[in-house]
Amino acid sequence: MSPIRKAIFPVAGLGTRFLPATKAMPKEMLTIVDKPVIQYVVDEAREAGIEHFVFVTGRNKSVIEDHFDIQVELELTLKERGKTQEMEILQADLPPPGATSFTRQQAPLGLGHAVWCARNIVGQEPFALLLPDMVMQGEPGCLSQMLAAYGKHGGNVIAVEETEPENVHKYGIVGVGEEDETGFHIDQMVEKPRPEDAPSNMIISGRYILQPEIFDLLENQATGAGGEIQITDAMISLAKQQRFSGVRFDGRTFDCGSKVGFLAANVAFALSRNDIADEFHAALTDIMSKDAKARQPAEKGGGPAA
Ligand code: UTP
Repeated sequence: MSPIRKAIFPVAGLGTRFLPATKAMPKEMLTIVDKPVIQYVVDEAREAGIEHFVFVTGRNKSVIEDHFDIQVELELTLKERGKTQEMEILQADLPPPGATSFTRQQAPLGLGHAVWCARNIVGQEPFALLLPDMVMQGEPGCLSQMLAAYGKHGGNVIAVEETEPENVHKYGIVGVGEEDETGFHIDQMVEKPRPEDAPSNMIISGRYILQPEIFDLLENQATGAGGEIQITDAMISLAKQQRFSGVRFDGRTFDCGSKVGFLAANVAFALSRNDIADEFHAALTDIMSKDAKARQPAEKGGGPAA
């Protein structure tokens, strides 16, 4: 069984749900506490043993490339000012020299097309695919948890999580087959089904281990939902020939492509940080209690209007 050495990070989307913040800045560079979203996802891949990081970028995304490079002037200034802790953080965040590749998706034709753009860098070996929109909080990280299923069954592995049945029409949904201690055999995959047609309420949640045959399927993949080339459509074809396993991630997932998910991620990660958790908890409690009071219906002779 081939080890998983390379990971693809598709970062060429337009991020329209975050305009105007994303007019000139990639959404992958929005910060959760004090780190860009993309750094959390790269850290998860490094923890899982990934050696080569392949970014599929687009116009206005060059700042992502700069983020994963040394900033000589900044480091010199930090050194002069004796800011060793800040220097150490910057150095720890940096992938090893030569471990990153950047390729361009010239037009945002869909996630499947973005993955296909990385085919020559990945070559004929299985790889991980991490959507930077989905930020996972858990130990070990989501990709590490998926490697247990890969180690046992090989093939393709997808992280899944439950959603409310009324939301299944927004996602790729999998059917739950035979289970073991690492997860389950995916016996069906459907893109954005009607609730009555969904095989389960398990959604595909942004982490994949895929075999290289997916590239040939993507090459000829017709456009699907939203007029885009969808990775799920190619996976449905691949599942006719190869095993797909589902792994229920033991942790929390934040959809940072949506405003509420991004804000929730900031709260959850801030509360998990030793340096700011107590102070932030107090500030948050204060905001929440004032908000709760403001929402109470106006009482006779006092209180703010509802
Ligand atoms: P999304 O559809 O959530 O990203 O794709 P988006 O299109 O940037 O978001 P909105 O809806 O306009 O706000 C999930 C991931 O796939 C990448 C995105 O960058 C994101 O990380 N992607 C999507 C590409 O790289 N290329 C594409 O053509 C589409």
